[in-house]
Amino acid sequence: MLEKIKQTADFIRNIIKETPDFAIVLGSGLGKLQDEVKALHTLEYSEIPHFPQTTVVGHSGRLIYGILEGRKVLMMSGRFHYYEGHSIETVIYPIRFFHLLGIKNLILSNASGGVNPDYKVADIVILKDHINMMPEHPLRGKNIDSFGPRFVDMSEPYSRKMISVAEQAASENNIKFQQGTYVALQGPTFETPAEYGMIKAIGGDMVGMSTVPEVIVAKHMGMDTFALSVITDLGGPDIAFSVSHEEVLNAANKAMPNVITIVKGLVKNYR
Ligand code: HPA
Repeated sequence: MLEKIKQTADFIRNIIKETPDFAIVLGSGLGKLQDEVKALHTLEYSEIPHFPQTTVVGHSGRLIYGILEGRKVLMMSGRFHYYEGHSIETVIYPIRFFHLLGIKNLILSNASGGVNPDYKVADIVILKDHINMMPEHPLRGKNIDSFGPRFVDMSEPYSRKMISVAEQAASENNIKFQQGTYVALQGPTFETPAEYGMIKAIGGDMVGMSTVPEVIVAKHMGMDTFALSVITDLGGPDIAFSVSHEEVLNAANKAMPNVITIVKGLVKNYR
């Protein structure tokens, strides 16, 4: 696997010839951010040696290198979810690849179901913490010392400095946002009312099917990590809210202009 990731990185390094300032991973329905980038190179995942392929509607599967707010960004439109049947190694493949390219800062986005009673559909939540409930840990197995230590400090999973720069961008633009703890489950089912109740009881504010494996691996390799979530539906132990993939995409669409403003502000001002 490591050899393959190196080959992927060599291939991309030959094309872009620079080290991007940020890697950005776009979540479900959040692909529009790619239109904001002045693209210098766009590659379909299928054109990139060893790169995994996506299977979800709303995830196009494209790597875009370009300029956003004067900074060099490598953007992944379409990520790999565990529920698609990908191994956990495949899910985190792009993050290892970003690291081998020399990228130090990672920005992730996702769609999630809110259980915090203060949340509304289309709210933007900046992740301050997470609870990993995925069935497989991405760092299980022999540690690769060149990537990072065996036992990883997770006291600051999301960079406080990146959060404060993003908050600044939000407040300057009068954008309301929440801060919360994201619980990662494997999916692909949305949660039952009792499961939403569990998420709330264990200290979660929202639940989704991505992001956490990527953050763990990024932290292992010493990257600064930031993630935001769009609340696309609400769940709870007492009321049976229904949810469809279409609703998820609609809510993500609604929040998109504000997501774009926050990410642009972060990319512009974070050093
Ligand atoms: N659970 C509930 N709602 C969601 C999710 C999820 O994993 N993803 C997007 N909306």
